[in-house]
Amino acid sequence: MVLPALPRRYHAASIWALYALGLVPAVWTFYLGATGQLIGNPVKIFEHLLGIWALRFLILTLAIAPLRDLAGINWVRYRRALGLLAFWYVAMHFLTYMVLDKRLAFDVIVEDITKRWFITIGMAALVMLIPLALTSNSWSIRRLGTGWGKLHRLIYAVAAAGALHFCLAVKVVGPEQLIYAGLVAVLIGWRLVRHRFMQRRRARRLAEVGS
Ligand code: HEM
Repeated sequence: MVLPALPRRYHAASIWALYALGLVPAVWTFYLGATGQLIGNPVKIFEHLLGIWALRFLILTLAIAPLRDLAGINWVRYRRALGLLAFWYVAMHFLTYMVLDKRLAFDVIVEDITKRWFITIGMAALVMLIPLALTSNSWSIRRLGTGWGKLHRLIYAVAAAGALHFCLAVKVVGPEQLIYAGLVAVLIGWRLVRHRFMQRRRARRLAEVGS
């Protein structure tokens, strides 16, 4: 499959469009909740939506590499925006939990984070995301050198923790949780075998050129 390439002059605009589009679910649902148009428990609905979109953006961030390796689609320029969107969604999810759900009852929040496993795991994911968000700029990439790549591998642990948190947050693990957890598992699996797969493919291509 050959996708038409976006002219270079539109690259920056397309990244900004992604940021704007990515925030639409949060802004729209917040608006519906604030104007009384969400049926049921608006806080829970908003909290759930933010968590789900956080996981979606994490998965999309991880999908950029296999998309390029296996399908030849190079969307690496969108990876930073996707990762940052994931971070903003987790941060909003956390804020909604603290402010709207628990109404800043810090004793309850601390007890939740230390005693309820699924919240401890979610919190660990947020803590791991913070250094990634802080170093997602060109200055940090230059400054950290090869250490930057090593640090940013943490994104796989964040996604694994996010998926586990989602599975443990519900009473019964259903198809939705299994799909998200399965996607994260496949993407982590790809990262583990990627190096060997690419080496073999390169060797095969060299052999074909040589013969
Ligand atoms: C990478 C980080 C995170 C991801 C991807 C994530 C994702 C999700 C998802 C998808 C749900 C929906 C479960 C459901 O209601 O069906 C959820 C629920 C929940 N999350 Fe997170 N979460 C993350 C971090 C956190 C953090 C840092 C906290 C708070 C310390 C938190 C607190 C909660 C709570 C309390 C619920 C249950 C809401 C309810 O009662 O329905 N999460 N999360």
